[in-house]
Amino acid sequence: MAVLPITVLGAPILREETVPVAVVTDELRQLASDMFETMQVADGVGLAAPQVGRRERLCVVEVEATRLTLFNPEIVARAGRIKWEEGCLSIPNTFGTVDRSEEVTVRAMNEHGETIEVTADGLLGVCLQHEIDHLHGKLFIDHLSFLKRRSVLAAWEKEKGRYPKLLRVFGPGGTEPEPTTEHAAEPRI
Ligand code: NI
Repeated sequence: MAVLPITVLGAPILREETVPVAVVTDELRQLASDMFETMQVADGVGLAAPQVGRRERLCVVEVEATRLTLFNPEIVARAGRIKWEEGCLSIPNTFGTVDRSEEVTVRAMNEHGETIEVTADGLLGVCLQHEIDHLHGKLFIDHLSFLKRRSVLAAWEKEKGRYPKLLRVFGPGGTEPEPTTEHAAEPRI
């Protein structure tokens, strides 16, 4: 197990398309395991491979008792609309309200290479949409209106100086700062 550095906004990989996974290897299961550990240390509920510098189409999600390793996830059904205040482990201490589907059904391959389908609403449903966006180079800020996006990016301008290598590094000798906003205790996607 290892806690991996998390890429932050400005790192090119966050804007790149990922590559579908054909076979779930032991190396990829280890990567997923490391992503869970990283997500927990970072106090998040979801993490996508580009956020740890990888191009595989893989994300992990843990919301309450639901823990999912998803390879090649895709949304196959949607219902309703919901507004949700989102953050992102790759844009620390920056938040914005995003218009999402209220409920989604996601089809993916799990860590055993089996096809699964998950239908979710609430935080889990939002988290799935947020992570699948990451796998296509999209971030929550892309869903905001021009004005809202500008104000969120202005907030990020004050934050990003803390990450000169565009990485959040956890643990002893790391660069991870203390949280600075009242949102700090909320789970990050
Ligand atoms: Ni995110």
